[in-house]
Amino acid sequence: MKIGIIGSGNIGGTLGQHWAKVGHEVMFSSRNPEALKPIAAEVGAQTGTVQKAATFGDVILLAIPFGRIPDLAQQIGRLDTKILIDATNPYPQRDGDVAQQVIEDKSQTATGYVAHQFPGAQTIKAFNSIYYKVLEEKAFRDGDQRIAVQVCGDDVQAKQTVKQLIEDIGFVPQDIGDLSSGTVFEPGAPLYNKNLPIADAAALLKQLSG
Ligand SMILES: NC(=O)c1ccc[n+]([C@@H]2O[C@H](COP(=O)([O-])OP(=O)(O)OC[C@H]3O[C@@H](n4cnc5c(N)ncnc54)[C@H](OP(=O)(O)O)[C@@H]3O)[C@@H](O)[C@H]2O)c1
Repeated sequence: MKIGIIGSGNIGGTLGQHWAKVGHEVMFSSRNPEALKPIAAEVGAQTGTVQKAATFGDVILLAIPFGRIPDLAQQIGRLDTKILIDATNPYPQRDGDVAQQVIEDKSQTATGYVAHQFPGAQTIKAFNSIYYKVLEEKAFRDGDQRIAVQVCGDDVQAKQTVKQLIEDIGFVPQDIGDLSSGTVFEPGAPLYNKNLPIADAAALLKQLSG
């Protein structure tokens, strides 16, 4: 797959490197692409501007501070036909009013808000609830040892693509349902930042739904 990384920090940098290692074509982007040359060179990935990565990817990973999303949407425009993986979380202390309003507005989830910013994309929520150090250190495992990565979205095919991308790097997708189900792994929710092996994550989800 061709994957454009928007926000090549803790989450985007780690995921981009993992995907490049297993053979995906990755472009890391930054407002200062030169700075990303070392992490890209380690895994044979490319670097570019944010706009370039948005054009490059069939899949776009969004991993920037939540408060920057409206500006980003203005800057790059629509992402029609692309799969947009939203890994962001709204934190009012960091992200200001945008995050506060999204948290207070019970008519939409955080990723629902992101999907609204990019109406032509197939938006899938994933990687929001895993700590980046766990992503870094517990990747490429087999069997029961694998850590669950929560994922949800409305488009079945796009979600399947993202589930495969989770499996490709040695984690297990835990499918929570459609996009509106994503509240269960938003900050402070029961599945947020638990970083559990799949059996324990499945038991916790069962307990929550039972
Ligand atoms: N840290 C975690 O463990 C974790 C886990 C799950 C989810 N998340 C969520 O994932 C997102 C990223 O977190 P992180 O810890 O990876 O942050 P980070 O290390 O600070 O990286 C964020 C990146 O976003 C880029 N960025 C900032 N403003 C931007 C803008 N206006 N346009 C384009 N790019 C911009 C920065 O790149 P340049 O300055 O190079 O442009 C920076 O490298 C957040 O929403 C966070 O809540 C984090």
